Amino acid sequence: MIDLSPILLEKYNVPTPRYTSYPPANYFGSDVSPKKAEKVILQSNNEQPENISFYIHIPFCSRNCLYCGCNTVITKDKIKMDSYMATLKKELALVANLLDDHRKISQIHWGGGTPNYLPVEEVEEVMALFKQHFSFIENPEIAMECHPAHLTYEYLDRLIDAGFNRFSMGIQDFNKKVLETVHRDDTAIPVDELVTYLQQRNISVNLDFIYGLPFQQQASFETTIKQAIEVNPARLAIFSYAHVPWVKPTQKKLESYGLPGSHEKITMFLTAHHLLTQAGYRDIGLDHFAKPEDELTVALDTKTLHRNFQGYSTLATTGQVYALGASGISQLNNAYLQNTKDLKQYHAMIEQGLLPIEKGYVLNREEKIIRNIIDELMCNLHLSWEKTAIRFNSTTDEVKALTQISKKQLTEFQNEGLITFSDTEVNVTNTGKFFIRNITAAFDPLMKTSEKKFSKAL
Ligand SMILES: C[S@@+](CC[C@H](N)C(=O)[O-])C[C@H]1O[C@@H](n2cnc3c(N)ncnc32)[C@H](O)[C@@H]1O
Ligand code: SF4
Repeated sequence: MIDLSPILLEKYNVPTPRYTSYPPANYFGSDVSPKKAEKVILQSNNEQPENISFYIHIPFCSRNCLYCGCNTVITKDKIKMDSYMATLKKELALVANLLDDHRKISQIHWGGGTPNYLPVEEVEEVMALFKQHFSFIENPEIAMECHPAHLTYEYLDRLIDAGFNRFSMGIQDFNKKVLETVHRDDTAIPVDELVTYLQQRNISVNLDFIYGLPFQQQASFETTIKQAIEVNPARLAIFSYAHVPWVKPTQKKLESYGLPGSHEKITMFLTAHHLLTQAGYRDIGLDHFAKPEDELTVALDTKTLHRNFQGYSTLATTGQVYALGASGISQLNNAYLQNTKDLKQYHAMIEQGLLPIEKGYVLNREEKIIRNIIDELMCNLHLSWEKTAIRFNSTTDEVKALTQISKKQLTEFQNEGLITFSDTEVNVTNTGKFFIRNITAAFDPLMKTSEKKFSKAL
């Protein structure tokens, strides 16, 4: 098992962005109006990538998991869900109207919340609308984030018939005490049976776990990860619990049980890392693991890995992302656009024929360069100053100056064994991977003056 220096762990366990977007979402502002958003979407037709990715946010869940950092609405009210889906279909028509006919869908990602908490007919109807409005590339990725408590074989069969070929399941932990403490419902069908069933049908499965929850310890988490390896998914995500009670006040309740300290947390992650890599998985980016033959691993080896709010994917399939649903974030070449989180406002704006945009961020050329540098480091653990300069019709001197990173800082990281660097490139070492958020933040000029709040890096 990798042994990380306690001095480095202490030094770098500080609030740091996760860089799922650049700039981070807490920089989005209310100056992006629905009309401006329309213009930005029209403009995106002439930007790269040409392919269209859709993200559909379904906020509904049956119960509130206390650790949850996602945008959720806890309800058992089917009428509420029906009316949300009716509005979402109108939103789809509004967005489809703005997109050029020649562009094709390469990805559809259903996230939440719990999309599989919807009646399956609702999902089928939206998928039918996509087929009506758009053409698709060959082998598009159609994925859903699922809570296994609401999965049945019939439900999965119908999703597969509707075109789904990837599923991600939230497991979090196999330990009953941990799950009960965080108010997590049990699975309907044992996870190993679900995964085997899907894999027999050639469907790729990812399992999500979280470390840093009350009552988690190295030994129990080791048992959980061993069990996960037995289940044999193509991919796993091992997320560090992001404790952000100032955004999600219900997380505060977990403090009364005692949260594992940073040393215990990192030990759990290192244990998982050791077990998974011994079992033949490769580590991908911040917190993902994939089999060697998986597309993510191939993308890592060819330096074409990409990351956005939906997780890691390959550059080949990721298009500009158009989000539907309350709180969804569109991720375009030029801008981020975030829908309102407020369901009433979401309905009202769409009824008026407006895009339900609440805030956003339009990037200038310099910010796009920084975003690209951050992506390269976070995903591919590598930065070529020259290739970045060529990509943006710039010079290496300009690109270096934009990051405001000093030779002193690079040398400090190198002396700590986190990177190697020369005049032309930066490479993150195997130890550096564990501190990638900190390394990346040093290339972000915003962090020199930022007063925003972020979760801790480790
Ligand atoms: C939308 S949820 C997954 C789908 C489904 N609702 C479920 O819970 O199984 C996406 C994932 O985000 C992760 N997650 C949620 N809150 C988190 C937090 N505060 N810190 C880290 N990961 C979190 C969980 O691992 C969860 O599986
Ligand atoms: S973890 Fe999943 S099921 Fe639980 S509240 Fe969050 S989105 Fe809903």
